[in-house]
Amino acid sequence: MEIIIQPSAEAATSIAARIVARLLREKPDAVLGLATGSTPLLLYRELVALKLDWRKVTTFNLDEYVGLPREHAQSYHSFMWENLFRHVNVAKKNVHIPDGNTKDIPKFCAKYEKQIKAAGGIDLQVLGIGTDGHIGFNEPTSSLASRTRIKTLTERTRKDNARFFGSEAQVPHHVITMGIGTIMEARQNLLLAFGSTKARAIAEAVEGPITAVNPASILQMHPVTKLCLDEAAAAQLKRADYYRWVYGNKPDWQKF
Ligand code: F6R
Repeated sequence: MEIIIQPSAEAATSIAARIVARLLREKPDAVLGLATGSTPLLLYRELVALKLDWRKVTTFNLDEYVGLPREHAQSYHSFMWENLFRHVNVAKKNVHIPDGNTKDIPKFCAKYEKQIKAAGGIDLQVLGIGTDGHIGFNEPTSSLASRTRIKTLTERTRKDNARFFGSEAQVPHHVITMGIGTIMEARQNLLLAFGSTKARAIAEAVEGPITAVNPASILQMHPVTKLCLDEAAAAQLKRADYYRWVYGNKPDWQKF
């Protein structure tokens, strides 16, 4: 894990945007895994401003609410088209977002996994983190080997996401999410976390034991995972000074 701590969410996002932009320039037909929620909003804004070429890019989103109409303002379909896709020249046929209204969820999930494989696998997966340590919507105690499937949101996550829906009662209980095993197959993971509400989950994920109770902790086993954090999200890291020194003293060839 590479821990990059920056003074602000904006500064941490700029680094993440540089990493994504470099990939798209070096590999114009890259396969990106994408996240939703408040955390990647700045990243998507920066990527749009960079005017990259998305014509050959393929995308796979991590998750979608089950039963929420695709046109609903809080569906992740709406989120992605509103905040990223409609502003770039991505081909609609290359965009993949789980279908929360599919009639046959297991069949859909198996197909999603196959589509990721057929696309050559995910080159870079963008991740946020839940206050309970979830990645995608793999809630605590999710199998660390799980694949794309239906999951039930915890009360904690439904409370956290009530801010988007107006009330907790309106937050769906079920989601389709890539599994932890799916995420672990991405060639690179880029996790962003901002704000003090994420500090505990980040400290446990980075410096705690690998445990299904904090699903993000499995990223300790991933060979190329970068975390872009603001100071507030990094506040409970015991080795923060070490991470800062490492990042500040990278040899030129390792800089991005
Ligand atoms: C969203 C996703 C979730 C979010 C997490 C943090 O696609 O997979 O893991 O990244 O719930 O959400 P925010 O960014 O809203 O705090």
